[in-house]
Amino acid sequence: MKKQTISFELSVFESLEELNEQDQKLMLKAMDARKDAYAPYSNFMVGAAVLLENDKVVIGNNQENASYPSGLCAERVAVFQAGAKYPGVAIKSIAITAMSRTHLVEKAAAPCGNCRQAISEYEYKQKSPIELLLMGETGEIIKCHSLTDILPLGFNNSYL
Ligand code: THU
Repeated sequence: MKKQTISFELSVFESLEELNEQDQKLMLKAMDARKDAYAPYSNFMVGAAVLLENDKVVIGNNQENASYPSGLCAERVAVFQAGAKYPGVAIKSIAITAMSRTHLVEKAAAPCGNCRQAISEYEYKQKSPIELLLMGETGEIIKCHSLTDILPLGFNNSYL
């Protein structure tokens, strides 16, 4: 038996102003998308902005449903829309931000497990890392340099 450690590096920013111009612009688009979320049940509004290799940006926000499991997270709305509109174009990065109508979201919003799995499909297919920029309403902004960092030992089509 041998033990192994999996570790990864994050970049942490104090504020939007600390981000480079491209990341700042992408996060502003995610913030813009966030306000149009359809979240009448959770009141938790998430925006996502996907930057593609062709420099197009595709946005998404969470879309809830009276039958709760039928709703979809912002990240999947965005990456599926990107896949539908620009098939085969690699994803460079995704900015994600959340706000709530009931409280101040003071920490960076990280994608749920299902969204991590959905995004990992694209990272695995394109063979290049997808960066993630995570933000709440206030607080630090976290940059992950690859989706795989936050979904280690993931499942992909190499097993099929
Ligand atoms: N939500 C997202 O849009 N992205 C996530 O990664 C986590 C959760 C949405 C789903 C639901 O509409 C609301 O936030 C509360 O869970």
